[in-house]
Amino acid sequence: MCGIVAYIGPKEAYPVILKGLKRLEYRGYDSSGVALLNAGLKVYKKKGKVAELEESLVGKDLHANAGIGHTRWATHGEPSDRNAHPHMSANGKLAMIHNGIIENYTQLKGELQKKGYTFSSDTDTEVLLKFIEDIQLNNDCGLEEAVRIALKRVTGAYVIVLIDQDNPDTLIAARKGSPLVIGIGKGEHFLASDASPIIEYTKEVVYINDYELAIVRPDELILKNLGNEKITPFVTKLDMELAAIEKGGYEHFMLKEIFEQPHTIFDCLRGRLDAAAGTITMAGVQNNIEQLKNANRIMIVACGTSWHAGLVAEYVIEELCRIPVEVEYASEFRYRNPVIHKGDVIIAVSQSGETADTLVAIEKAKEQGAIIFGVVNVVGSSIARISNAGAYTHAGPEIGVASTKAFTAQLAVLTMIALKIAYEKGTIDNKRFMHLVNELQEIPDKVPAALQTADAVQKLAAKYKDAKDFLYLGRGYNFPVALEGALKLKEISYIHAEGYPAAEMKHGPIALVDESLPVVFVATKDSYHEKIVSNIQEIKARKGKVIAVISEGDDVISKMADDVIVVPAADELVAPMLSVIPLQLLAYYIGVAKGLDVDKPRNLAKSVTVE
Ligand code: F6R
Repeated sequence: MCGIVAYIGPKEAYPVILKGLKRLEYRGYDSSGVALLNAGLKVYKKKGKVAELEESLVGKDLHANAGIGHTRWATHGEPSDRNAHPHMSANGKLAMIHNGIIENYTQLKGELQKKGYTFSSDTDTEVLLKFIEDIQLNNDCGLEEAVRIALKRVTGAYVIVLIDQDNPDTLIAARKGSPLVIGIGKGEHFLASDASPIIEYTKEVVYINDYELAIVRPDELILKNLGNEKITPFVTKLDMELAAIEKGGYEHFMLKEIFEQPHTIFDCLRGRLDAAAGTITMAGVQNNIEQLKNANRIMIVACGTSWHAGLVAEYVIEELCRIPVEVEYASEFRYRNPVIHKGDVIIAVSQSGETADTLVAIEKAKEQGAIIFGVVNVVGSSIARISNAGAYTHAGPEIGVASTKAFTAQLAVLTMIALKIAYEKGTIDNKRFMHLVNELQEIPDKVPAALQTADAVQKLAAKYKDAKDFLYLGRGYNFPVALEGALKLKEISYIHAEGYPAAEMKHGPIALVDESLPVVFVATKDSYHEKIVSNIQEIKARKGKVIAVISEGDDVISKMADDVIVVPAADELVAPMLSVIPLQLLAYYIGVAKGLDVDKPRNLAKSVTVE
């Protein structure tokens, strides 16, 4: 949520920052701004997407070798020019960008107002900046010292970067709870919310930890804790190529990412699953196998699409490992005082690895003695680092705001984990283990056939794009897929959609069914097939329009449904990796048919770093 970029060094700062903001726009896009330091400090900001800021700056003198930039997802204060970042101090000498929420900002604002400070925005950011300025004045200290003092009084989450007219060769940054990466170039430094703005300049990066302060000069990076003690920066090498964060000829990142799935699932399995040898190699699982296989229960904590992956995993783990699984919304889990025993296993599932609710939920569970196993996509992210063990999903950068390839990669990893535990625990016989390992290995080869439904799905999108509501129904492993299909449609097309267990719809939602309601059945061949056939009859009897995702060779549902989308047959345990694909495509093509910006749907942001 909110993207920040900053640069200091010999290059022109503005083009670096602008390009970086465009790369980070998935994190928020209701307004943006830059502060550039040349002879003086100049701040430019604009409501709307980064392109609108860019347009408004054509012809301006933007020369500077240091600057900060921000693309916003509004928390405090509506999207507007005045609430856009950067914000300025009262004396006009400091500018600051911020990602996160300062929870005690009302109290701080009250204190500052009593001292005569006025505010030109509704943001918590301006309050924090003026609080820092006030400390600097009262203590007659440097900016670094003032930031340190201020942060000790602040509650909430933040990444901040400050630029100071009186110290043009220094940027000051700090983090708690929101991500910050610093790229190390030759005589230059790049700061950003993630590595995407940095990758084309350098692969050497330092991930800043909570409660660390960075003093950044063109040729020097000093890290300190809030106690003013120096910390040695830990430099890591980025394992990412520029092509991975570009559209590569596709009209949208979302479509590119949907079509990347044969490769991303393959990358996820590669080096881990060996069907010929019948082995699964996952160090994170192996090193904790005793805790995993002896767990009294496993709790899966996640949000959104990752929560849906967790629901599929619940079915898979319970089936294969005979361990009870609870799947929790991280936002509920963190506040409801859950019962956690020492040694409980918590699997945190997150694409970004930065989702605030998931992060705090596992921090609390860890304090209570739980073992945290992270299933995360972004390498080096906060959830990955706080986890005791884990497995990366290796789906590559996901830029489209709606999650697609990360979901199927999460399913692949979670299925491997379940298979590995079941094998070690002896709750699966060799024949079934080998069968499922082979089924999983074949998924990357089957995904292209599921993607070939794209043209047919596009036609369906044209047919149904004006529907007001959709119902998505599934049973068993395909029930969470129905939830995921409904979520995708809501996000991308703004059409109301509900996902439901197919049998449960009789207990309420069936009242909605009439000839205007499209009902999407996720009905690939599984042990519930006959049951879902009956559910389709129930919808047809009430004149609902049935769109069914079915397995090849299913000539029962193909005769009943108004429209069918056929995907390759697969064992029901791994079928969600195929059945979800037409649903991703349906949401995409309906969004496009309605002329919407599918990569940046309204009100959403990719990485939800506020609770
Ligand atoms: C949906 C979507 C969100 C995320 C959720 C969790 O398309 O992208 O629902 O799944 O915000 O994010 P991560 O997985 O980054 O923790």
